[in-house]
Amino acid sequence: MAYYHRLGQIPPKRHTQFRQPDGSLYKEELVSSKGFSGIYSNLYHIYNPNEVKTIGKPKPFKWEVAKDHGLQQTHLKTSGVGTTGKDYLAARRMLMMNNDVMMGICSPEQRKMDYYFKNADGDELIYIHDGNGVLYSQFGKLEVRKGDYIVIPRTTIYRFEFEEEGPLRLLVIESQGPIETVKRYRNEVGQLLEHSPYCERDIRPPHELHIEKEKGEYLVQIKKQGMLHQYSYGHSPLDIVGWDGYLYPYALSIYDFEPITGRIHQPPPVHQTFQAWGFVICSFVPRLFDYHPLAIPAPYNHSNIDSDEVLYYAEGEFMSRRGIDRGSFTIHMGGLPHGPHPGTVEKSIGAKSTEEYAVMLDTFRPLQITTDALDFVDENYPMSWTD
Ligand SMILES: [Fe+2]
Repeated sequence: MAYYHRLGQIPPKRHTQFRQPDGSLYKEELVSSKGFSGIYSNLYHIYNPNEVKTIGKPKPFKWEVAKDHGLQQTHLKTSGVGTTGKDYLAARRMLMMNNDVMMGICSPEQRKMDYYFKNADGDELIYIHDGNGVLYSQFGKLEVRKGDYIVIPRTTIYRFEFEEEGPLRLLVIESQGPIETVKRYRNEVGQLLEHSPYCERDIRPPHELHIEKEKGEYLVQIKKQGMLHQYSYGHSPLDIVGWDGYLYPYALSIYDFEPITGRIHQPPPVHQTFQAWGFVICSFVPRLFDYHPLAIPAPYNHSNIDSDEVLYYAEGEFMSRRGIDRGSFTIHMGGLPHGPHPGTVEKSIGAKSTEEYAVMLDTFRPLQITTDALDFVDENYPMSWTD
């Protein structure tokens, strides 16, 4: 992550004796990325993190590509979908993927997880479309709310507790590479620059420790190579009395993303929010439209020659598209041009502002939809530019 943070008690010098009230040592754990060359944190456990009691039978946890979908502009109508499964993992329905990234939806019936989850395959980015709650992890308690992006580095052990009232709808992105702030917005030591659409004040790390000391039966489901491995411990994995470093989960609200606007239409890089291997994430937020006297606020036709573009429509009316609802996905594939629907260009002229919110995923390698996505395909979308 972009800045150093610490919570709880830590010894003044790393890798030195740090004792519990009974005189025994706290158990230090270094959680590091890119071997020893990336960001890391040092965690201090009450119990030994290697003390596994039992390992259950692993369960398959992967998605299949819909092989026959082929090259076509795609609209997935997921707006009407209710709950998508019983619990946080069962409800995860990944809709598109390639070797770098997967993206899908999750609307669990159970609002409070009664197990812990660790994704050992990739970093996660959870966008809370609807819902409020708390992320409990080894790094402490983080209150999360509608509109938050939550970046969860791989191997973070966590559970969510969402409020029971109101709708709950999550957009889930899993990344093979680390999810990072945008490099061109950082100075040489990592601080976000003045022209960045958000800064460190907008980034919310865990704000207080959550220490579970009681012994008992604790299940951690670990995702690794398409399986959910069932690990049981005699103590909670949330037994951390202190930690410090740069690696931790954090939240950034889409409502804190400051739009960059111009006299003529600005391209998607001005909306970029995160970077990762093989893709970027952008945020479309309410903003003033272009102010050249002859400006056309709607985007121009665009031919992707080397990327696939996914838009997830979160709020408001998206001025360049027809037939799109809150919760729709559009996938505009490389190899085809895409652009505003007929009539929307003329309609946009003279418009002063937009109230839209959308999350965009641009990949640099082709995406394929999964068999789970077939339930939501709008068959008419590829021909929807023809009146
Ligand atoms: Fe585009």
